[in-house]
Amino acid sequence: LSELSFSDKLKKAILARSLYFEMGKNNCFRVFNAEGDGLDGLTIDFYDGHLLVQYFNKEVEDSIFDYIAVIGNQTPYFPVPVKSILLKNRKTVRGKQNFDDIRDSKIVEGDYPEEGIVVLHNGVSVKVDLVHGQSTGIFMDMGQVRADMEEKYRSGKIKSMLNLFSYTGVFSVHGLKNGVSNSINVDLSKAVLKRARGNYEINSLKVDERDFVYGDAAEWVKILAKKERKFDLVIFDPPTFARNRKKKFSVKRDYLTFLKAIAEIVNEGGFVLSSVNSYSVSKEDYFQCHPHGWELVRFWTESADFKYSANHYLKVGLWKPGV
Ligand SMILES: C[S@@+](CC[C@H](N)C(=O)[O-])C[C@H]1O[C@@H](n2cnc3c(N)ncnc32)[C@H](O)[C@@H]1O
Repeated sequence: LSELSFSDKLKKAILARSLYFEMGKNNCFRVFNAEGDGLDGLTIDFYDGHLLVQYFNKEVEDSIFDYIAVIGNQTPYFPVPVKSILLKNRKTVRGKQNFDDIRDSKIVEGDYPEEGIVVLHNGVSVKVDLVHGQSTGIFMDMGQVRADMEEKYRSGKIKSMLNLFSYTGVFSVHGLKNGVSNSINVDLSKAVLKRARGNYEINSLKVDERDFVYGDAAEWVKILAKKERKFDLVIFDPPTFARNRKKKFSVKRDYLTFLKAIAEIVNEGGFVLSSVNSYSVSKEDYFQCHPHGWELVRFWTESADFKYSANHYLKVGLWKPGV
């Protein structure tokens, strides 16, 4: 079989996502996922007509404007109009370079509103910023997790939620819009908590300052335990700790300690949703990061639009802590 050109690979990738373009509850997803779609180091995300192209290695960088030209020529193949193309450098940053400046996207085609855009993700509105910094405001690889959690929220079994490492509060907004009564967001960044409040507002959710807690997640678990607060669901979605093999063991230790502390603040019959975002932690390692006696209710990897080739990096589980 002859090697497909990038143009053919992209056409194939767009075609494979046909259904995504039709889904009423989502207008953001991954259109081209690096190796999974045949080109290591290049991803394309679709955000309501805006295409965010990201390159992760030197090989792709060297030919990036050829790739951009192909993407530009392919816009007629998109079932909906393409409004702009943005380009982000995601190569590993070494030394003392200004990380945020390097990560800022360049608008290479079309018009993109400076103030950012609002996209629809699993039926909720999320404000995203496709230009500044590394992350846009939404982790789309969790799309399937959030979609499946909807059933749990709607069942009425989850009324109270603690969203640790909340980022822009997407888990909370999704829960609250689907039957959860209260959610507390904890994050070590005031800027992302502000964005979380913004996401509540655009979804017409009441903003109570007490639900946006600035601080270290581990400290807050201790404080909440002392106050004897308990929740029906605790989300534990920390940033990636592990980058090398040696560190893998500390992930396991850190996870176990953290999760044991979390168990103290989960209501009887309640759940913990935990995640690991790293190729270097296998599915088995992830399972072993949980205390004995915990029951796995459901397991996920990245959503299907993040078409994979060899390995999944994302491991997410819904657990029932043991007694
Ligand atoms: C992977 S993101 C979480 C994504 C989020 N669950 C979602 O689905 O949108 C990790 C977040 O953890 C926050 N963070 C990092 N260290 C923290 C700490 N020690 N305590 C609380 N939050 C922390 C970061 O500011 C970032 O917003």
